Amino acid sequence: MRVRVLGSAAGGGFPQWNCGCPNCAGVRAGTIRATVRTQESVAVSADGEGWVLLNVSPEIRQQVESFPGLHPRGPRHSPIDAIVLTNGDLDHTLGLLSLRESHPLVIYATERVRLGFTEGNVLYRTLERFPGQVTWRLLALGREEEIARADGAGTGLLMEAVPAPGKPPIHLEGARPPDPEDSIGLRIREVSTGRCLAYFAAAGGVTPAVLDAMAGADGVFFDGTFWASDELPALGLGSKRAEEMAHLPIGGAGGSLAALRGVRAPRRIYIHINNTNPILRDDSAERRAVDAAGWEVAQDGMEVTL
Ligand code: MLT
Ligand code: MN
Ligand code: ZN
Repeated sequence: MRVRVLGSAAGGGFPQWNCGCPNCAGVRAGTIRATVRTQESVAVSADGEGWVLLNVSPEIRQQVESFPGLHPRGPRHSPIDAIVLTNGDLDHTLGLLSLRESHPLVIYATERVRLGFTEGNVLYRTLERFPGQVTWRLLALGREEEIARADGAGTGLLMEAVPAPGKPPIHLEGARPPDPEDSIGLRIREVSTGRCLAYFAAAGGVTPAVLDAMAGADGVFFDGTFWASDELPALGLGSKRAEEMAHLPIGGAGGSLAALRGVRAPRRIYIHINNTNPILRDDSAERRAVDAAGWEVAQDGMEVTL
């Protein structure tokens, strides 16, 4: 299974347009050891021909252009066989509107995420230019199914949606009660080899279901948004702690490095990294702690073969 990181940053990207935090200012000025990153999206393939996108960031156009595997192979063609949405956050879904050029799309999502994106959304009509432009396939928690293309052919990848502690997207907070289908992780298994990827780009905690999904996996991606709970307030950038945003921080006694220390996957990779996170600096103490624990930090263009 090939896993290609198209974008590795959290919402806003790195640097973020309105942010002058030490990381964003430093990467702009070239005074810190860090690399710019676009917003999180990953492409997965069993055969290297067709690809399944996990989330579609606002930077999808640039991300497709940056990876020849996603370029068209005919006058009208895309190797993108299907798209999977892990929640309704705009950094995961806005790119759908950029894929409006009258191309049939297969989108897997929970019913909650589908409704959150389509209901009352006049812009969604741009994906209803012709009947069948979007085929929604509804994900049910805990059911393994093969990801299929628009014509029904299998992709060679089996997927199971796993509840991940989360919340509705910010624009729907308070509009509906929280629900386990607001945010999912994925366990993706390649039919031909049995190789397995556990993908949790947003998770407010580590539950038994999350650990089960990671058990025996060859590669694990996990929420690397924040190093510390109070990262934003400490920088004067907002009042919310990481947990209030449904992101478990990496560091600290209750953080994900500690909570996932029993996970033995050969590749363990933090993704969806916020621009404030000190692990973005190649020479920070926090980065050294992540390295020492055997975790990697995702970068745009990184490719992992499981
Ligand atoms: C998040 O990951 O918490 C969201 O992407 C935040 C946002 O929508 O800006
Ligand atoms: Mn996000
Ligand atoms: Zn910043």
